[in-house]
Amino acid sequence: MRVSAIIVAAGSGMRLGLDAPKAFVPLGGRSLLYYSLRAMAVLDAIGEVVVTVPAGMEQRARAEVERAGLEIPFKLVAGGTERQDSVRIALAITSAESEVVVIHDAARPLATPAMFAACLDAVRRVDGAIAAIAVADTLKRTDGRMITGTVARAELWQAQTPQAFRRVMLIEAHDRAMRERWTTTDDAELVERCGGHLEVVESSATNFKITTPADLEIAEALMARNSGH
Ligand code: CTP
Ligand code: MG
Repeated sequence: MRVSAIIVAAGSGMRLGLDAPKAFVPLGGRSLLYYSLRAMAVLDAIGEVVVTVPAGMEQRARAEVERAGLEIPFKLVAGGTERQDSVRIALAITSAESEVVVIHDAARPLATPAMFAACLDAVRRVDGAIAAIAVADTLKRTDGRMITGTVARAELWQAQTPQAFRRVMLIEAHDRAMRERWTTTDDAELVERCGGHLEVVESSATNFKITTPADLEIAEALMARNSGH
């Protein structure tokens, strides 16, 4: 099974209160992007990596690829306005020989190689397989402040990345999204809307998306623990 990986690493770091694009924000002495590249470098299953970078950051991204010791072919491409645009742009330059594409947010630096491997294993049976965690808290619906209802959580999962798909299906889903002006926050939703069969692969709360300055602090602490400091 041939696999192309896409790391989405364009977009801003505005909510982090930093000037640098999010993927180039420092974490544990490296950039956020470094950690996703590092995971790719240790995964034998992946044949090429496409990285969407903020326009003008190609040189910085190239340096990160080298630091991560990535020895498989890679392509850097300027990302689009929204995440969905970035994925579409990256997909268009993935190798036509790949049966499967696995997509990952650079904003999730704590994804483990095992999470990628589990998604790649599951996608052999289905159209898509995504890292996710079961919802643990009780969910309330509000009108902004007043509670208007409680959402049964038993069937609910929080979607993360990595997300692995049959490449042709994902391309078709993105094409249809363009034509029909769908906007979504993950790729799985596009494939779902096209009738694809998808599975969740249980991952871990540690695979959270860096969004706020507090997230960066938590990630620093987890990384320090993992490296035994
Ligand atoms: N991304 C991208 N191109 C964009 C926007 C985002 O490649 N035009 C990437 C980011 O680098 C990140 C991932 O997509 O790795 C998720 O985007 P992020 O901005 O972290 O998440 P959002 O859901 O957009 O959250 P926020 O509101 O914090 O922007
Ligand atoms: Mg964003």
